[in-house]
Amino acid sequence: MTLPIAPIDRLVVPLDVPSRADALDLARRLKGRVGMLKVGLELFCAEGPGFVKEIQAFAPVFLDLKLHDIPTTVRRALEALLPLDVRLINIHAQGGPAMIEAAAEAVRAHRNRGGKTQLLAVTVLTSLDREALRRVGQPMEPGELALQLARLAKKYGADGVVCSALEAPAIRDACGEAFHRLTPGIRPQGTATQDQARVLTPAQALRNGATWLVVGRPITQAPDPAAAAEAILAEIASC
Ligand code: C5P
Repeated sequence: MTLPIAPIDRLVVPLDVPSRADALDLARRLKGRVGMLKVGLELFCAEGPGFVKEIQAFAPVFLDLKLHDIPTTVRRALEALLPLDVRLINIHAQGGPAMIEAAAEAVRAHRNRGGKTQLLAVTVLTSLDREALRRVGQPMEPGELALQLARLAKKYGADGVVCSALEAPAIRDACGEAFHRLTPGIRPQGTATQDQARVLTPAQALRNGATWLVVGRPITQAPDPAAAAEAILAEIASC
């Protein structure tokens, strides 16, 4: 029997702030109120693996580097990153079957040595709309392509996908409950959508089958980030 996920474990907050000091301050304020802190490409390029270790003192880390290269390069990059034993790490599903398989093998080998990292595959970036896909020679609708890439990611060994919460129900139906769905683009009722075009509330995203919710600016730009995180935890707990 799988244990239900505690509300706090579902909440992922990106450290999308301009400086190392701001990131540490935010991590400190959110300690005990989030399941994971997301370290993205900008922060990782600026501050490196040592900074990830510092953040892990506050919460488990989702290392959001979206690796995409030839299979051997992605495998070796993961082998260099996996000793950090972050909670989640990701690749682009569009890297194809051999690349996903190489990444999954590296992550499995890490887990066989006692590590806990799980591998997610990014389906379609939410910044790409139908027209942008057409211009790179991809005739499918974003949602249709996301589903195809989720099936591919599952077949070749990823543990889940990054997808829009709007796509989560179809992906859950096709790939099963145990194949995780991490969903950005979440906005509590009444907060600004900013540059996210298609947003859902935490409750809607959970009903759609999201495993983890990435909530950024409604928390990171709130006057009191800890209180904003607690309000979202309360909404998650009420689902
Ligand atoms: O502030 P907001 O809640 O929009 O932040 C969402 C976070 O999720 C950002 O770090 C953004 O880069 C990330 N993300 C996203 N859409 C994706 C993948 C990641 O918004 N498809």
